[in-house]
Amino acid sequence: MSPSITLREVDDSNVNQIIDLSVADSQQHFVAPNVRSLAQAYATTKVWVRAVYADDEPVGFAMLSDDHEKPRYYLWRFMIDERYQGKGYGKTALGLIHDYVRSRPGGDRIYLSYVPAEGGPEHFYKALGYVDTGVVHDGENEAVLAL
Ligand SMILES: CC(C)(COP(=O)(O)OP(=O)(O)OC[C@H]1O[C@@H](n2cnc3c(N)ncnc32)[C@H](O)[C@@H]1OP(=O)(O)O)[C@@H](O)C(=O)NCCC(=O)NCCS
Repeated sequence: MSPSITLREVDDSNVNQIIDLSVADSQQHFVAPNVRSLAQAYATTKVWVRAVYADDEPVGFAMLSDDHEKPRYYLWRFMIDERYQGKGYGKTALGLIHDYVRSRPGGDRIYLSYVPAEGGPEHFYKALGYVDTGVVHDGENEAVLAL
């Protein structure tokens, strides 16, 4: 039976496990290490941070810029540990992130940006309906999905 994918808060019970999750060496330039993301989250307001779990196993991490005043929701970081990739966990977890954004004021779209390179996540996002906005930030293509 496939495991249940859930999003859980990062707290003192799991923070070290989330820091230890990582992508493959060849994927390091697609996403920052979780320790960096968590430090940035600590120093940032309007951010929503969640660990991705498969049953009770931590398998990934997501960080959303969560500004209901603009409103603008931007998936800042998203990763599934290399040991758990290719099992559908990323797709399911992203669906849960979409549900969260839909629950927010004015949450009718979600933005993200990705490094447009071989082996990167572009096809993963495009297969889920994301389309490029034409904006490029620091070499990353911005994309948006209407929810
Ligand atoms: C991108 C990432 C989050 C996808 O998570 P995942 O759990 O491996 O993806 P899934 O198993 O849910 O795959 C869902 C679908 O996307 C496809 N897919 C996944 N990664 C892909 C890739 N890099 N290129 C093309 N297709 C991909 C799968 O084949 C699958 O297709 P299907 O639904 O037709 O079977 C994960 O591979 C990852 O963390 N990559 C490194 C970090 C990264 O790039 N993060 C994004 C930063 S913007």
